[in-house]
Amino acid sequence: MDKNVSAAVIRRLPRYYRYLTDLLKVDIKRISSKELSERMGITASQIRQDLNCFGGFGQQGYGYNVESLYRELGKILGVDKRFNAIIIGAGNMGNALANYPNFKRRGYDLIGIFDINPELVGKEISGITIQSIDELESFIGKNKTDIAILTIPSQSISEVAEKVAALGVKGIWNFSPQDLKLSGDVVVENVHLSDGLMVLGYKIGELEQQNR
Ligand code: NAI
Repeated sequence: MDKNVSAAVIRRLPRYYRYLTDLLKVDIKRISSKELSERMGITASQIRQDLNCFGGFGQQGYGYNVESLYRELGKILGVDKRFNAIIIGAGNMGNALANYPNFKRRGYDLIGIFDINPELVGKEISGITIQSIDELESFIGKNKTDIAILTIPSQSISEVAEKVAALGVKGIWNFSPQDLKLSGDVVVENVHLSDGLMVLGYKIGELEQQNR
């Protein structure tokens, strides 16, 4: 695998994976880059270039074997592994994520939920008891924790992120509006749902202008 795969290519991989999942559901066993490009709305050469970063997978004149491409991309995306995750911040966002059933299917097991608010401690979300943030260190010491999902306000994000990183967590999924950058052996994925909403606003504006 090419070690210098660009972030843009990596960002497209889950989309390929989703389309391949749908193809398998309807029992499509093989697909050309042209057919895949028509379905996905990206060019066939883009698809070939993207997949070539990981060794190609396709065969001239045959296209892609859907199942083996699905399996290989799954491996690259880590969906064949299991990760233990915790949520820090049991508010609206933390609740929504804890109640989302698909994470388990994708290999992410939620093993703990933490909050700073004593009124929430002891309550349950999705069968998991909310613990005090004061218990975090001892919990991570006893339970292998791969990922911390941070659904807390921006003010405390850096402090909490540095703490979980120091405790050995490998990945941080940051939902606060503040982008996190940490050095060392931890990877960060910043999520901004409202970016999508703003793009939608922009597109509605464009559409309105066209129809004027
Ligand atoms: P919320 O106020 O409902 O929940 C935040 C929770 O974090 C509260 O229960 C609070 O007690 C807890 N908390 C605060 N500081 C803490 C700390 N140091 N340690 C542990 N727990 C702590 O807020 P909501 O709506 O769930 O939003 C959470 C975060 O997600 C905010 O930063 C918000 O801006 C962000 N957000 C992000 C979105 C996105 O697209 N990424 C969309 C909506 C919210």
